[in-house]
Amino acid sequence: METKRYHRETLAAAAAALRAGQLVAFPTETVYGLGADATNEAAAKSVYATKGRPSDNPLIVTVANREMVARFATITPQAAKLMDQFWPGPLTIILNIHPGSLSKTVTGGLSTAAFRMPENALTRELIAQAGVPIVGPSANLSGKPSPTTAEHVLHDFDGKIAGVLDDGPTQVGVESTVIDMTVTPAAILRPGAIGPQELAPIIGFVDSEMHHVGASETPKAPGMKYKHYAPAAQVVVVDKPEQFAQTLKWAAASGQAYGVLATDAILQTVPRAIPQYSLGVDVKSATHALFAGLRWFDLHPTVTLVLAQAFPAAGLGAAYMNRLLKSAGNEHFNPADAK
Ligand code: TXA
Ligand code: MG
Repeated sequence: METKRYHRETLAAAAAALRAGQLVAFPTETVYGLGADATNEAAAKSVYATKGRPSDNPLIVTVANREMVARFATITPQAAKLMDQFWPGPLTIILNIHPGSLSKTVTGGLSTAAFRMPENALTRELIAQAGVPIVGPSANLSGKPSPTTAEHVLHDFDGKIAGVLDDGPTQVGVESTVIDMTVTPAAILRPGAIGPQELAPIIGFVDSEMHHVGASETPKAPGMKYKHYAPAAQVVVVDKPEQFAQTLKWAAASGQAYGVLATDAILQTVPRAIPQYSLGVDVKSATHALFAGLRWFDLHPTVTLVLAQAFPAAGLGAAYMNRLLKSAGNEHFNPADAK
């Protein structure tokens, strides 16, 4: 199949493809999603097959307006407050659904579902024109870094999906915060750009310990436990900027072909010949660049080791570190190894 590149001018064709049960990737402020009519079970099923996603990992229902949520779920007063404050935006809200209103394929058999209204105006227009909510997992092969450009989407899915709506690079760079509003207190299941500091003033105490995350994110295949967002090379997290000098020596001595994923201040100290990808200047630019950087190293297949910069795990840093640690399978540089 020829994968089309849709733009603002061809939005109607993209909406028609969705209505016809085909897969169309779409931009959001976080990452690109893989869209399919959420009310068409066969279409939703093909999303799992195309991504290679475990079938019990439920999908997000992406909507253009609140009425699309009300068709399937009860919007509690607390959830409505979150929607007032943060929608459209990078917050996915888990709600109890009307029994039988969404297929098991979408919900993974749960009595709840995840709802999200993205900030990208073109995507909301796409969903409005399609007239149905669309499922929207990240538009990457399962286990690979989420896509932050249409090129990333095509890298994984060219020839396998009907099209991608191209609206340039995404803004945030990591997926939305997922908050479960069906439990008390409300619980963050996945950290994102909107953290407990932003949520608590609106709905009171929010559990951000993420005890539940394992249940929704653990892949079933043994040995795949930490293979998320992973490039072909082994990623090693360098916890402190001042450890880079020592880490570079250790990597050189290891004999491995290594690369560096770090901010400009650190890259200035890295020899020119070493493959390197800039995380910009701070945690915001780093979060924006992280997945693109991990994918960039896949285009340099000689690199077998990527030294990646950590940030303090607070605010946006919590979202950044959550993704980085998964991509690294929790491997940190250990100064004791370098002695
Ligand atoms: O930013 C985002 O949220 C992107 C863009 C494309 O919208 N989408 C995205 O979708 O990241 P996905 O499917 O890769 O992540 C959805 C997360 C998964 O961790 C899934 O397990 C969880 O939400 N989830 C979905 N429904 C759930 C439910 N009913 N209860 C608990 N977790 C749920
Ligand atoms: Mg994903």
